[in-house]
Amino acid sequence: MRKPVIAANWKMYKTPAQAQEFLQSFLPLVADDTRDEILLFPSYVDLSVAIAATAGSNVSVGAQNIHYAEEGAYTGEISPSMVEALGATHVLVGHSERRQYFGETDQIVNKKIHAAIHHGLTPVICMGETLEEREAGRTEEALLLHCQESLKGIIPQVAENFIIAYEPIWAIGTGKTATPEMAGMAHFFIRTQIAHLLGRHTADRIRILYGGSVKPENACALLNQPEVDGALVGGASLDPYSFAKIVNY
Ligand code: G3P
Repeated sequence: MRKPVIAANWKMYKTPAQAQEFLQSFLPLVADDTRDEILLFPSYVDLSVAIAATAGSNVSVGAQNIHYAEEGAYTGEISPSMVEALGATHVLVGHSERRQYFGETDQIVNKKIHAAIHHGLTPVICMGETLEEREAGRTEEALLLHCQESLKGIIPQVAENFIIAYEPIWAIGTGKTATPEMAGMAHFFIRTQIAHLLGRHTADRIRILYGGSVKPENACALLNQPEVDGALVGGASLDPYSFAKIVNY
């Protein structure tokens, strides 16, 4: 049985004071949850506040991105060792917005995955198809390529602790949610490809989350799909009560 993961991706929202205020409201609402792994991905400037505020709680904190280099002349970037030193435990890699706006490729994602595990950070590997790919019937082709390229050089025993986030790009921030059946089929396909690449033992243990317009009103149907091991929530995670309703689905 895979432990479900409910994760919040705040993207570029909330100051440290707003992050503190959110957690003061949110933590008591989910304090009794022992079923799920609850993750919070705030912006860099909120990491220290979030890590301090969640210390000793059932909520872990991760970074939304890292550079793959140990250090260097990369203005504006954050290294894996910096994120590790803050006490973060996870890191998002390959989010579609980073692929779209910052040219992140599967090859860069692969480098970031290797850098993350070198620093004890659990990668949450984001992948999904565009609307054009779905309408052209190329969803599985796109997901297969993401799996093949992102997981290059990763050994099965390490990958079983990874988290995958399937986020159909056409569902992110649009209010259009994949149906539970669509999500279930995509997750099944991803898990099958991971079994081919890394073996059934790893495929059965890796958690695959759904992301893309998850809301309190659709969370239960999505999360009760057998192949869906949790959710990566954007907009609905910015409000503590809304995100707590999803956690407590
Ligand atoms: O990483 C999660 C995010 O991309 C989904 O955003 O607003 O559609 O829940 P949203």
